[in-house]
Amino acid sequence: MGWIPVPRSGTLHALIGGGAVNGISVVRLRPSDWAAYRQIRLAALADAPSAFGSTVADEEGMTPADLQTRLIRRSTFAASASDGLVGTAAGTPGDVAGHADLVGMWVHPDWRRQGIGGLLVRAVIDWATASPFRAIDLWVTVGNDAAEALYARLGFVRTGATQPVREDDPTLLELEMTRPL
Ligand SMILES: CC(C)(COP(=O)(O)OP(=O)(O)OC[C@H]1O[C@@H](n2cnc3c(N)ncnc32)[C@H](O)[C@@H]1OP(=O)(O)O)[C@@H](O)C(=O)NCCC(=O)NCCS
Repeated sequence: MGWIPVPRSGTLHALIGGGAVNGISVVRLRPSDWAAYRQIRLAALADAPSAFGSTVADEEGMTPADLQTRLIRRSTFAASASDGLVGTAAGTPGDVAGHADLVGMWVHPDWRRQGIGGLLVRAVIDWATASPFRAIDLWVTVGNDAAEALYARLGFVRTGATQPVREDDPTLLELEMTRPL
C-alpha cells in the first residue's frame, strides 16, 4: 500500500513501555500530535474498512480542532518504531458507568504478528486501570478472528451482545467483548 510509517512529531513523549517487542515503544499522543494521528488513522480506515465504525470519507474532512478534541477525549496510544508510528489503540469512557471502551485498534500489515497489538491493548488496560474504571468493553467485527484472538488472549470475553458496525450496512455485525479490571 506504499506505506511510509507516520513520522513522529517532535512533541511525542510519555514513553509508556515496550519491553516485549524489540525496538517498539508505546507513546501517548497529545493534542499537538493531531497531524500524525490523522495520517495513521486514515491509513487504518483505508486498510481495514470492515473493522471500524467510521470510514475515510467520514474522517478525512476533520479539522485540526476536531482532531485535537478527539485526542483530548480519547486517550490515544501509538506504537513507535525507529522510523515512525506503526499502530494505534485508544481508550475512552464508555456508555456504561464505570466502563471504558477500547477503540481504534490497528497495526500496519507489515508489522503484524510481532506482539505490537498486544502492547497497545496492554497500554489501554494500564490507562483504564489507573483511572476509576471497573472494566473495559470493545466491539469487534464478527469474523475478525485475528482481533478476537488477540483480545481473548488478554482476558476479554464475549458478552453475547451484537450490533451493526455501521448504520448504513445492517449485514456487517460486530460482537461485544469485555474484560474486568
Ligand atoms: C488485530 C490486529 C490489531 C492484531 O495486531 P498484531 O500486532 O498482529 O497482534 P499481535 O502480534 O500482538 O498478536 C497477539 C496474538 O493475537 C492473536 N492473533 C493476532 N493476529 C492473528 C491472526 N492473523 N490470526 C490468528 N491469531 C492472531 C494471536 O494469538 C497472537 O499471538 P501469536 O502471534 O503469538 O500467535 C491487526 O491484525 C490489525 O490491525 N488488524 C486490522 C484492524 C483490526 O482488525 N482492528 C481491530 C478492530 S476491533
